[in-house]
Amino acid sequence: MVKDYLDTNDFTKEELLDMVDLAIAMKKMIKEGGRYPLLLENKTLGMIFQQVSTRTRISFETAMTDLGGHAQFFGPGSIQLGGHESIEDSGRVMGSLVDILMARVDRHKDVVDLARYSAAPVVNGMSEYNHPTQELGDLMTMIENLPAGKRIEDCKLAFIGDATQVCVSLMFIASKMGMDFVQFGPKGHQITDGGLQVENKVDLLAIGQENCRVSGGTITISDDIECIKGADFVYTDVWYGLYDQEEEGASYLDVFYPKYQVTPEMMDFAGPSSQFMHCLPATRGEEVVDAVMDDPEHSLCWVEAENRKHSIRAILATLCPQGPRDAVAADEAQAVVDARMAKLGKLGL
Ligand code: CP
Repeated sequence: MVKDYLDTNDFTKEELLDMVDLAIAMKKMIKEGGRYPLLLENKTLGMIFQQVSTRTRISFETAMTDLGGHAQFFGPGSIQLGGHESIEDSGRVMGSLVDILMARVDRHKDVVDLARYSAAPVVNGMSEYNHPTQELGDLMTMIENLPAGKRIEDCKLAFIGDATQVCVSLMFIASKMGMDFVQFGPKGHQITDGGLQVENKVDLLAIGQENCRVSGGTITISDDIECIKGADFVYTDVWYGLYDQEEEGASYLDVFYPKYQVTPEMMDFAGPSSQFMHCLPATRGEEVVDAVMDDPEHSLCWVEAENRKHSIRAILATLCPQGPRDAVAADEAQAVVDARMAKLGKLGL
């Protein structure tokens, strides 16, 4: 398995499903049994945030506490990173001071560089390119809420609206799993328009299609609402997010409203048992209306938010190095420390 969690395309379907299995098992163990698996005792996570966050920050920090470890928060302007210290030097130093790092970055290149220079594993907490921890939480949510008699491979996921990094991430994970993925969005805001601000532009659709070649999944991108018919999961994201800069002239509302607003009528059109998902935060009344978000029968967005924590626990437990590196050297070092402690009268030897 690769050292870092930067992109789910670096992992096999089996590795991703293994993490979901672990996430579901730990969720049950903690929620139902009150038993905390102390897999990361004495481990420290460094959390770098160049952008604001509610769910991601709280999930990482709580996950570390739950697993017996500790998290340190570094918000904008609180560490040398981004000042005169280069990302390479910061990565080298921070990777030697903590056991695992996560970063929510302005530019995807920064989290890639951080991982390149850090000896400790690095987890991507969102960039303008993708949101892989959201992806795993969303996969977990869909697996926990599969329609009766269906496997994840049998399901259809329809994303409504703008080709945000969450939309692209869903295409990645759905195509990896062998699902049918649909983006119902306006021209100019479709995955194929390459709207994401990745420095070395990548062919997003080609990545998804390669996943489909292996998994048997499908990808459809259209501005015709017919494409969402039969969706098991209907997903949307904000029309104007952290990484957007409004263009002069047409407002984003003119582009998306009302055709791409998720309403009860749109949910009914997708199917009577379609379930609603949203990465949150939502702009209520824009991309989705209250009646859909708060529908107790069909809205998964609240459990989806909680599953960020459960799935992040599994990512941390899987990636964070465990166990001693050199037991013999550690025994010798312990003898020196024990002798010093005895001299100080602390061991009572
Ligand atoms: N979904 C998500 O990443 O939420 P935050 O921006 O609050 O972390």
